[in-house]
Amino acid sequence: MKSIREQISNKPWLGWLLFAATLVIVFFLGLLASTIMERRAEAMFAYTPQVEFESWEPRSAVWGENFPREYQSYLQTSDTTFRSQFNGSAMIDMLEVDPKMVVLWAGYAFAKDYNQGRGHYYAITDVYNTLRTGGPKKPEDGPQPATCWTCKSPDVVRIMERDGVEAFYKKTWAQLGPEIVNFIGCNDCHDAKTMNLRISRPALVEAFQKMGKDVTKSTHQEMRSLVCAQCHVEYYFNKKRVEGAAWLTFPWEKGLTVEKMEEYYDAIEFSDWTHALSKAPMLKAQHPDYEIYKTGVHADRGVSCADCHMPFKSEGGQKFTDHHMTSPLNNVANSCQVCHREETAKLIENVYQRQERIIEIRDQLEQLLVMAHVEAKKAWDLGATEVQMKEILQDIRKAQWRWDFSAAGHGSSFHSPVEMARVIGNGIRLAQDARIKLARVLAKLGFNEAIAYPDIATKAKAQQFIGLPMEDLRKEKAEFLQTMVPKWLEEAAAREKSYKVTRM
Ligand code: HEC
Ligand code: HEC
Ligand code: HEC
Ligand code: HEC
Repeated sequence: MKSIREQISNKPWLGWLLFAATLVIVFFLGLLASTIMERRAEAMFAYTPQVEFESWEPRSAVWGENFPREYQSYLQTSDTTFRSQFNGSAMIDMLEVDPKMVVLWAGYAFAKDYNQGRGHYYAITDVYNTLRTGGPKKPEDGPQPATCWTCKSPDVVRIMERDGVEAFYKKTWAQLGPEIVNFIGCNDCHDAKTMNLRISRPALVEAFQKMGKDVTKSTHQEMRSLVCAQCHVEYYFNKKRVEGAAWLTFPWEKGLTVEKMEEYYDAIEFSDWTHALSKAPMLKAQHPDYEIYKTGVHADRGVSCADCHMPFKSEGGQKFTDHHMTSPLNNVANSCQVCHREETAKLIENVYQRQERIIEIRDQLEQLLVMAHVEAKKAWDLGATEVQMKEILQDIRKAQWRWDFSAAGHGSSFHSPVEMARVIGNGIRLAQDARIKLARVLAKLGFNEAIAYPDIATKAKAQQFIGLPMEDLRKEKAEFLQTMVPKWLEEAAAREKSYKVTRM
């Protein structure tokens, strides 16, 4: 038997034939590998259906009969025992931790009440409880539009399908109280028929359209972040689009960075409120988790929200996606060590170091902002003019937007530490600019003393300093919880009995 080399040198066509055969084999191997990857997800939820239900079914327990593992793990977002150094699933009263925030939000509902989120399980309860939603006594009452429900419940999908999107955004928060009762669930992220990931919220679809993109063309890996980006984003209520509607809008038209979103807001002269002390036209950052994550190294390497917050889990030899969305530090083995070889303690230390450093500089920006607001109030009190204050108020607006942008997402100092440091650095410069200009204005008005830092050592002191009637607010809320909420829940329970579910 001659060696292959000898045979080929006798018959050159044989070499080409071998080459072609190899190409064909490699091509089909590649094809096989890619279908395996695609099928993996599908194969994993090969299941025997127990129930059939409507495409808008908001009750996750019903879906859970078909997918018990996903459902059980999803219910674990009710567990509030885990605490990391700065975050976790325990409710944390952020105004108590950091009373400076009360002054920064003077004149806005966040100064009344602001907690670090617990978990999806509490999305409805916490929105009942927060002083920010007030104590409506009638459906038309209360400070908030129905739009506030948008990121809380799969009932939103049901109502938008039934009444249309515009009608939804036109209602008050209390008008939809009896309709929206199920916390964030399966129908927010999945298509009922195929179980594919899908975008259920029009705001994200519209934001993509405005950027000239089609969200339905996203890759599977992108979808593993985009389902979260339906809610974990910066947004505002656009009241100019349709008369009488608070239209949920993401300010992404010019880009997703802190500057591009600011440009967008500046161009439409938008402000969330006028600051009670400085009278600056303020912006409130919501929770730009997705936008900030996009600037980090993990996003750059194609790691999705679900990779860290919904890792695979095995139970009885069955692999499935852990739906207990929480701090990944509660589960470093599945969340991080799939990719990183370091010990658990080391990885946690890496996270804490980044968080500590960002919080250190953010805290400095916060103190400068407190002073800027207090000094601006002094200037107004001494008779400063609009013209004298105009630029100063713009500096304050911009500085605080940067502070809030970096503080509002509780994962951001890990998701993208370098970007956070850049944003805060620019915030510090702007806050100092404001204060230098303020010192000049104050001197012109004949005031040359240093202004003392206010005594805002506790939340109660800070709320007193800005003059919030906390007693009244709490009383109003207690009454609402005792009278309105039980009625809402009763009405909902009666209605839900009529939803069609077929058992197999
Ligand atoms: C329908 C809106 C919605 C979607 C979709 C959503 N979330 Fe949330 N998420 C919320 C709300 C609202 C809270 C706060 C709930 C509370 O504590 O009352 C929250 C809280 C959380 C928390 C814990 C709260 C914290 O700040 O400590 C984590 C972690 C989280 N979400 C991750 C995710 C991930 C990851 C995804 C995507 C796979 C996702 N969420 C999709 C609305 C949503
Ligand atoms: C915040 C979004 C979100 C919610 C809410 C959610 N899922 Fe998922 N689900 C995901 C993501 C992300 C995956 C991973 C999908 C993938 O990569 O293909 C997933 C995967 C699945 C799968 C595929 C099998 C597996 O385990 O990977 C099933 C089945 C499933 N979810 C069922 C449910 C059920 C039932 C509920 C409600 C109890 C639910 N999901 C709620 C985001 C969500
Ligand atoms: C799917 C893979 C994957 C997962 C899951 C993952 N990482 Fe990473 N991580 C990466 C990649 C890729 C990089 C970029 C560095 C590189 O290319 O070597 C990175 C970078 C890092 C860095 C350095 C980046 C910086 O900020 O300077 C840290 C720290 C880190 N990861 C921690 C974690 C922790 C903690 C978790 C779990 C919560 C985690 N990673 C989960 C893939 C992953
Ligand atoms: C590389 C892993 C990784 C990726 C990717 C990632 N996160 Fe995180 N996330 C973390 C870590 C680590 C923390 C900090 C947890 C802590 O401090 O306890 C965190 C914190 C959070 C928190 C606050 C949780 C809490 O306990 O208060 C939310 C909400 C969150 N992430 C949402 C998201 C969303 C939405 C995405 C995608 C847009 C995302 N994360 C992408 C690792 C990740």
